[in-house]
Amino acid sequence: MTPAFPLPSGRLALCPSVLSADFSCLKSSLARVSKNADWMHVDVMDGRFVPNISFGPVIVPAVLRAGGLPADSHLMVENPAMFIGPFAKAGASLITIHAEARGAAACLRQIKALGLRAGMSLRPKTPLSRALPYLRQLDLLLIMTVEPGFGGQAFMAEMLPKVRAARAAIARSGRPVWLQVDGGINAETAAAAVAAGADALVIGSALFSARNPAAMLKGLRKI
Ligand code: DX5
Ligand code: ZN
Repeated sequence: MTPAFPLPSGRLALCPSVLSADFSCLKSSLARVSKNADWMHVDVMDGRFVPNISFGPVIVPAVLRAGGLPADSHLMVENPAMFIGPFAKAGASLITIHAEARGAAACLRQIKALGLRAGMSLRPKTPLSRALPYLRQLDLLLIMTVEPGFGGQAFMAEMLPKVRAARAAIARSGRPVWLQVDGGINAETAAAAVAAGADALVIGSALFSARNPAAMLKGLRKI
């Protein structure tokens, strides 16, 4: 049994991105980054919404078994409605759709109807105002700090004002909504993201290439 998905509590959540795992030994690669982590982040790409293809729901049970942690699914797909059911069935605890994708409002209702947590993500160029009408339905708001599609890109510091504004909007809403930042997170950019108000960090390449991932996560937790 995977543990329940946590609620925001003021504690920083650290989310390893499966995209950066070593797929020749997925289990040990994920086990290596799961100590001191909170949940796994599963990047789903369809080759249309982003210029890359990753994996489908089949990865989720493997991720749950390997790390013993819950998983969020970040759907970077044109038509999320098609994938919500399969990812819920596969065991994702939270599903994040993009505000720019087809039928975002209906997709949030679909996720909720399945009893899962719902997230909404914004590409770097999409203003925060696109997500605000949905804040009452959200359990997580994801601010992309790289163009979605690939791991290992540089953090866009120009997104920090958007993170600050998102934190203020969440505070005004009075609701328990995670503010997740995804893309280019390392020890330095993590501090900047947290200072701007993020309380959940996705970490891909920097974590999987760390000599001691558990120590890296422990260090990040002290931010
Ligand atoms: C990018 C993905 C990210 C990516 C993060 O489209 O959404 O989750 O895996 O990887 P790093 O931390 O390497 O930028
Ligand atoms: Zn992601």
